[in-house]
Amino acid sequence: MKPELGCCYYPEHWPEERWEVDARLMRENGLSWVRVGEFAWSRLEPTPGNYNWEWLDRAIDTLAAEGLKIVLGTPTATPPRWMLKRHPDMLALDAQGQPRKFGSRRHYCFSHEGYRASCAEIVSLLAQRYGSHTAIAAWQIDNEYGCHDTIRSYSEAARNAFQTWLKARYQDIDTLNQAWGTVFWSMEYSSFYEVDLPNLTVTEPMPAHQLDFKRFSSDQVLSFNRLQCDILRQHSTAPLIHNYMGRIVEFDHFAVGADLDIASWDAYPLGFLEDRSDYGDEWRARFARQGDPDFQAFHHDLYRAVGRGRWWVMEQQPGPVNWAPYNPAPLPGMVRLWSWEAIAHGAEVVSYFRWRQLPFAQEQHHAGLLFPNAQPAPALIEANQTAQEIESIGEIKQLQSSVAIVFDYESAWAWETQPQGQSFDYFKLVFDQYRALRALGVSIDILTVEMLGKTDHKAIFIPGLMSLNSEVVSQLTQSKAQLLIGPRTGSRTTNFHIDTCQPHLFPDAQALQIESLRPGAGYSASTGRVEHWFEHYRVPDKQVALRTVEGYPLLISEATRHYLCGWPDEALARALYTQILSAAGVDILELPEGVRIRDTQGHRFWFNYNAEPCNVGEVTLSAAGVEIRPSNRSTDGI
Ligand code: GAL
Repeated sequence: MKPELGCCYYPEHWPEERWEVDARLMRENGLSWVRVGEFAWSRLEPTPGNYNWEWLDRAIDTLAAEGLKIVLGTPTATPPRWMLKRHPDMLALDAQGQPRKFGSRRHYCFSHEGYRASCAEIVSLLAQRYGSHTAIAAWQIDNEYGCHDTIRSYSEAARNAFQTWLKARYQDIDTLNQAWGTVFWSMEYSSFYEVDLPNLTVTEPMPAHQLDFKRFSSDQVLSFNRLQCDILRQHSTAPLIHNYMGRIVEFDHFAVGADLDIASWDAYPLGFLEDRSDYGDEWRARFARQGDPDFQAFHHDLYRAVGRGRWWVMEQQPGPVNWAPYNPAPLPGMVRLWSWEAIAHGAEVVSYFRWRQLPFAQEQHHAGLLFPNAQPAPALIEANQTAQEIESIGEIKQLQSSVAIVFDYESAWAWETQPQGQSFDYFKLVFDQYRALRALGVSIDILTVEMLGKTDHKAIFIPGLMSLNSEVVSQLTQSKAQLLIGPRTGSRTTNFHIDTCQPHLFPDAQALQIESLRPGAGYSASTGRVEHWFEHYRVPDKQVALRTVEGYPLLISEATRHYLCGWPDEALARALYTQILSAAGVDILELPEGVRIRDTQGHRFWFNYNAEPCNVGEVTLSAAGVEIRPSNRSTDGI
C-alpha cells in the first residue's frame, strides 16, 4: 500500500467561502485525507433535538469535490453545554471527589448511562446521514480516550457500575473477600453494595481493590467505544478508527483496538519530550527541537500491534504546540523526518494537526500547516516535500522483525498500584529496553501476552509482566526464541497476591529478598549498573550467567531462557542485549546516539534526530536528516 498524507480540518472555525480554497490547497500540496467533525456537536445539535446538518453536508461536499477522502469524527469528546442540563450528574469526579467541569473537553464519566444514551443518539443520526456517503472513507470514534487524565472517574455512576462489574466478576462476596484478602485490617464486605471506589481512604487502599477498579475503568472505555462501533457498523462499511495518545496506559488499548479496524495515534514529539519524558533536562535540551529519538517509534510499533498491522498517525505535530511546559519549533527537516519515520514503521496515513492555526481559544499558539493569516507555515513545505517523495518511492512493505517486546496494560496498573519504589514505572521499564534494543539497530515488534504462543521471533523480551499463567509458562518453556524475562515478571497472581518465590521457569532459584533502590544506590556489573530495583536469588552456580561486582546473581540462564534480576542502566542493557541477540542469531549495528534505522522489505531508512550531521559508515546524514536506501530483504537481519 502506498502511504498517504492528510490533515485535520475544522470547517466550523472558518468562513464558508474559504472551504473551497482550503480543499484545493490541501490537494495541491499532496494531501489526500481530511478529518472533520470530531468536536462539532454544538454546531450539529445547537439545542437538544434540533439538528443542523446542512453546513456539514456542504463542507463534506466541498472537500470531496477536490477528491479528498474524509474521516468523520463522532463528536462525543465535547458534549455541548446543554448536555449538562439534561444530565447534571454526567461529569467525572476526580479522586478528590471534585467535578471535572464544563469549559474545555472530555467532561464526561464513561459510566454515565444517560450520557451514553445521548452519544448513541447523535452517533446514530450521523451514521444514518453519512454512512453511505461515498466521500466518508473512515470514521474516528470520540477523540483521544484518556487524554487529560479522563479514564478513572469517582462519580456515583462509576460506583454503581463498579459494583455491578464486581458482581459479574466474583459472583458472590466471599469470593471477592478471598481474592482481595479483605481479612487484612478488617476490611471484609458482606455485600457488593458496600464496596466503594478506592479513593479518599485514610491511607493506601487495598491493592487488589485498586487493580480491579483500574480493570473496571478500562472496561468502561471498551463498552463506551463498542456502543459507537455497533451503531456505525449498522450503517457504514468504512473502517473505524480511534486516535490514541502517547504514554497513556490507563486503559487496555489492545482490547479497544480489537473492536476497531485501524489504530491511530497523535504524535507530538516535542510536546511529549517536554511533557512526559523521564530522561532529564540535559536530554530534553539536546532533543528539544527534534523529540526523543525512540518515543515516536515505540508508539508506532505499539499501535501497529493494537491495529493488528493497520495503523495511522491521525495527528502529526507540525510546529510548536501550545500545551507543553515549553513549546519550541521543530528543526527544519523534522516534520519530514517524523512523517517518514511513521511510514517506515508501517503508517498507512500521516495526517497533520491542524490545517490552519486558529487565532482564538485554547490552541491559538498551536501551529498548523497554514499560519492564522492563511500563509503557508514551514510544515506545509515539508509535508509537500514528503508527498512528492512518497510519489517517487511508492509502496513500502513491512517486514516481520526478529525481536519482540511484550507490553501489557494490566502490568502498568499493577506496578502503579504497588510500585514499591518511587522510580518503578512500568512504561519506563519497557521503554528503556526498547531504546537499548533500537540503539543496536534492530527493528522491534510489540506483542501482547496472548500473541506469545503464535510468533516466531528469535528474541523476546518480557520485562515486568505482572502474571504468567500456566499456559504462558508452558508456551515459554517450549519457545525456541531467546527469552529475556524480568525483572518482576510473573511475580503476582491475577488477584494481586505474591505468586511464587521463584522466578517462573527457574524452579531451582530461591528468592532471598527483593528491594527497591534509591538513585545512586544500585549495584555495579562489569559493564554498567543496576538501578531502581533488585531481586536477590539463591541460584545453582551453573545457572548464574552474570553476577554483580558484589557477587549477587544478576542474570540467571538456562539454555535459551534468561531471567534478569534488576533494572539495567543503558550500558549494562546494551551489553546484556547484545549477548542475547547474538545468541538468537540477530545481527546488530551499534548506532550513534540519536541515529536510528528501520528496515522494510525494500528499504533501509536512516533517521538522524541530532541537530548536527552524522556519518555512519558510508551513510551521511544531515542534521534532522532522513536517508532512504534501497535494500532487498524478505526477512529481518542486517
Ligand atoms: C491532541 C488533540 C487535538 C489537539 C491537539 C493539540 O491531543 O486530539 O484535538 O488538542 O492535541 O496538540
